Amino acid sequence: MKLNLSKKPIHTVAADLLIILTQGENPLLSEELSHLRPLLKKYMKKKAFAGKRGETTLMQIEELNVSSILLAGCGTKKLEPFTVERAISSAIRFGISEGCRSFILLDHIPSYDWDPSLYHTLSGRAAIWGSYTFTAGKSTCSTIKGLKTTFTGDRSHRALINRAQIQGDALLKTANLANLPGNLATPKTIATYAKELADSCSLSCKIMGENQLRKNGFGGVLAVSAGSETEPQLIQLEHNIKNRSQRPLVLVGKTVTFDSGGISLKPGKNMDWMRYDKSGGMAVLAAMHMISEWELNIPVIGILGAAENMPGGAATRPGDIIHMYNGKTVEVLNTDAEGRLILADAISYAAAQYNPRAIVDVATLTGAVIVALGHAASAILGNDQSLVEALLTAGHKSGERLWQLPLFDEYAEDMQSQFADLSNLSKSGSAGTATAAAFLNEFVPKQTAWAHLDIAGTAWEMSSTSHQAAGATLFGARLLTQWVETCANNDNALA
Ligand code: BES
Ligand code: MN
Ligand code: ZN
Repeated sequence: MKLNLSKKPIHTVAADLLIILTQGENPLLSEELSHLRPLLKKYMKKKAFAGKRGETTLMQIEELNVSSILLAGCGTKKLEPFTVERAISSAIRFGISEGCRSFILLDHIPSYDWDPSLYHTLSGRAAIWGSYTFTAGKSTCSTIKGLKTTFTGDRSHRALINRAQIQGDALLKTANLANLPGNLATPKTIATYAKELADSCSLSCKIMGENQLRKNGFGGVLAVSAGSETEPQLIQLEHNIKNRSQRPLVLVGKTVTFDSGGISLKPGKNMDWMRYDKSGGMAVLAAMHMISEWELNIPVIGILGAAENMPGGAATRPGDIIHMYNGKTVEVLNTDAEGRLILADAISYAAAQYNPRAIVDVATLTGAVIVALGHAASAILGNDQSLVEALLTAGHKSGERLWQLPLFDEYAEDMQSQFADLSNLSKSGSAGTATAAAFLNEFVPKQTAWAHLDIAGTAWEMSSTSHQAAGATLFGARLLTQWVETCANNDNALA
């Protein structure tokens, strides 16, 4: 999907489809289109179109240089980035399914005075995302060519549209990796992807394989991969690291290419979806791609802890005691609580290696977050409230919703072990998301600002929705990029 800018008046721009957002039954029409209001209202009434979130309807029109208008509902509440992003993706998805190939988007949301920077990034990226379906698994796959979305408006928006194009393209490219199953996306495949990405944009890439991980004492990562035939990889992508005037931001992603549970084997039902247990790493990869192509002037490191969790003969057993990167010992009471072992090593390594301004990790860490929040938001927990708030704001602006959970001392006590420094399983069995975060917190130096995003409920869609095809959502990529951009504009603040 190519994004364009046209300075011509909207009624002269040729396209298959003009997309109009509606707030409930109220079409959001710019001044030059306001004469269409009675016509649209009449049509909406006839079609019983209520403008609910995700609702779309097509209407033929003769007045403009387009063949149809597509009305895209945003619900009746005040518009938010979240609803607008989804409405635009829904509109494009529906339009494509109806055979349309070229689209027009307004250059602002009428009666809302959003910052053009916010609106263009969001809507352009959403248009590109709405055009995506994962097809690489089919032996004959037809990708639709020649898709085009035109924004009408002035030249000053050119750069914003370029940014949206960069973001959308990076998301699609990463999605093609994120949607690959465990046999096709191994830790090594992902490392190769990262190296090629680094070569194509100005990132530098360092990889540690099994030998180096052993030499450096990454006991958590190695314990997870012990039962697998595939080699674990610690992948580091560095952006602008030569900029020594600032301490870097570090993004850490859980990248478990398949989580069978290990010896604490998961039930068979839905186990196939554990190919998406690499989603945290995929979000970090996409974010690093966007950050480097947008040339944000701030040092940022992306770290992917990539391993496969399998129950082979050499697998870690329940009860095993392992030595972590930072010297602490952990009793592995459940081999299915593997993500925290990888993240703990990656976080303590990042803190020791980079003296970071902040560390943010992203992970499909606990089923419990789905009990708490369903699929409507990801959980955020952290040791620094201003960092948490900066991420909540970034989440709001980028249409990726976060909700904060607490890190009470009780949760850390719940992770104590009888025989080692810590257990990877809580004694109480309750507060699964918070106890997992409390475990990670034990690996964060007190002076380092840290936040953890649990994306287990938001990382993929099991079947297609109005706004996206089944598969990876890349949740986290948009908000991390937004956060890094805000930090780049605020020296030394966590933004
Ligand atoms: N990858 C899973 C978490 C998960 C579950 C993600 C469902 C997405 C959907 C994680 O490694 C895991 O297995 N967590 C366990 C932890 C438990 C053993 C303490 C869980 O949530 O059941
Ligand atoms: Mn697991
Ligand atoms: Zn897992």
